[in-house]
Amino acid sequence: MLKVLEHPLITHKLTQMRKVETKTKDFRENLDEIGGLMAYEITRNLPVKEVTIETPIQEMKTYELEKDIILVPILRAGLGMVDGISNLIPTVKVAHVGLYRDEETLQPHVYFEKYPPNIDDAVVMIVDPMLATGGSASAAIDMVKKQGAKDIRLVCLVGAPEGVKVIEELHPDVDIYLAALDEKLNEKGYIVPGLGDAGDRIFGTK
Ligand code: URA
Repeated sequence: MLKVLEHPLITHKLTQMRKVETKTKDFRENLDEIGGLMAYEITRNLPVKEVTIETPIQEMKTYELEKDIILVPILRAGLGMVDGISNLIPTVKVAHVGLYRDEETLQPHVYFEKYPPNIDDAVVMIVDPMLATGGSASAAIDMVKKQGAKDIRLVCLVGAPEGVKVIEELHPDVDIYLAALDEKLNEKGYIVPGLGDAGDRIFGTK
């Protein structure tokens, strides 16, 4: 399932990020804020369990989140989405997946992976700002599935139809959440109109 999270605040903040003149600090702040807003929408249907607690006044039955939430940023740009989401959900655990693309075969290769132990019973959110060809996202989904993950959500800011199609075909069980679905990929693999290289803009490396 593809869900484009349409909300005036998300659209406004994404517009600031897209502008070529937006500098690293503002780019990061807007990404943090969109991450939080997206997390609020994505977690709407999370399972809760009944608990009995004591308020300063009396005992009551209420609810808490039933499952752990594990964030899986795809290095490096995915790191830019961790703070915004974990500010909203401070109990998240953060796994890491490092992938690079072989220049010749264009296939993603793993150079780092680290997960918390209970990934099979957690809600797993793979985060990467740009869903371009879908190669890295699909490889990251394969990796968490190998670890036993079952409830997997892919959370990106901007997607291209090409990348969405790849994930829908290879991983029909994974829900995809975007802030915007753009037009296409260009010949260099950038999303059009997109926002440029998300990693460079987050880390100021350009
Ligand atoms: N990765 C990016 O950072 N930007 C794109 O447009 C595509 C992939």
